[in-house]
Amino acid sequence: MSFQISLQPDGQQFPATADQSLLDAALAAGLLLPYGCRDGACGACKGKVLSGSFEHGAICAGALSDADRAAGMALFCRAQARSDLVLEARNVRRADDIPVKKLPCRVHSLKRVADDVMILELRLPASERFAFRAGQYIDLLLADGRRRSFSIANAPHDAELLELHIRLVPGGQFTPHVFDGMKERDILRFEGPLGSFTLDEHADTPIVLLCGGTGFAPIKSIVEHARHLGIRRPMALYWGARQADGLYLDALAREWAASIPDFRYIPVLSGLSDNDGWQGRRGLVHEALMADFPDLSAHQVYACGAPAMIEAARADLSGRCALPAEAFFADSFTFSTT
Ligand code: FES
Repeated sequence: MSFQISLQPDGQQFPATADQSLLDAALAAGLLLPYGCRDGACGACKGKVLSGSFEHGAICAGALSDADRAAGMALFCRAQARSDLVLEARNVRRADDIPVKKLPCRVHSLKRVADDVMILELRLPASERFAFRAGQYIDLLLADGRRRSFSIANAPHDAELLELHIRLVPGGQFTPHVFDGMKERDILRFEGPLGSFTLDEHADTPIVLLCGGTGFAPIKSIVEHARHLGIRRPMALYWGARQADGLYLDALAREWAASIPDFRYIPVLSGLSDNDGWQGRRGLVHEALMADFPDLSAHQVYACGAPAMIEAARADLSGRCALPAEAFFADSFTFSTT
């Protein structure tokens, strides 16, 4: 049995069966709703059910609060229809024809750029052309069937290798292996490209880029893509970390600021003492952004980081700086230890 799902405000419709997530049903119909983890954990797919009945499915409490539930919100990557539904969904795009593939790849290089950050480069089979959009991610497929999601840090025009920025998760099942066991020429498998966090190339508004830690990876892809296209929109990059070594490609960001017209870079550290010698900005990175941009009504913001940072930025930038809801593009990542 299938139900009819309608999207507001744009009016698109698609069918969904009772055992299909609303996100999967939308993707099957060629509609790209915002999403990230597809696992009920990151909150990127959260939206409001305006009418109809549905099951929430298995979700992480942090991704959908009791207040969200009371307000009729659902995680579309988990929710399943039990009747025809009307959903509120913004930033819906037509899914394009970039195919999602499962491919083998070989570890080309491993470069430790901070105590807890490794840059991993993967070489694809020579016979394969792998297309993706700047800002998307891949899932590395582990031998036991589990997956780990990592953003692609290089731009699509420069995709001979895939660059991933991997943060060590102490006690994790995968990332300690990247730091201690993985070697050049090891074979991995992945699936991708995935995710809806991509640059809106048709807008002409200034761009504000906001990231924490290895959330820099998809931002790097977007900046290099925009530079390649010759996009002239003003860009400001706010990169937050606890300590200076968390800004593991600080020199690259400074090079962008020196060489890309109308590009500013503002590093922000949150874990410092008063007498550490840091001359730059301090505190929470999205608060530094708000101090500089009290009116974001004519901007787009692209944000990548931990879910708490993304949720705080979403609420504060729209609530206090007039950022339109549809102008906030986010990719929030979770660190799995299982
Ligand atoms: S919670 Fe649905 S995509 Fe992450």
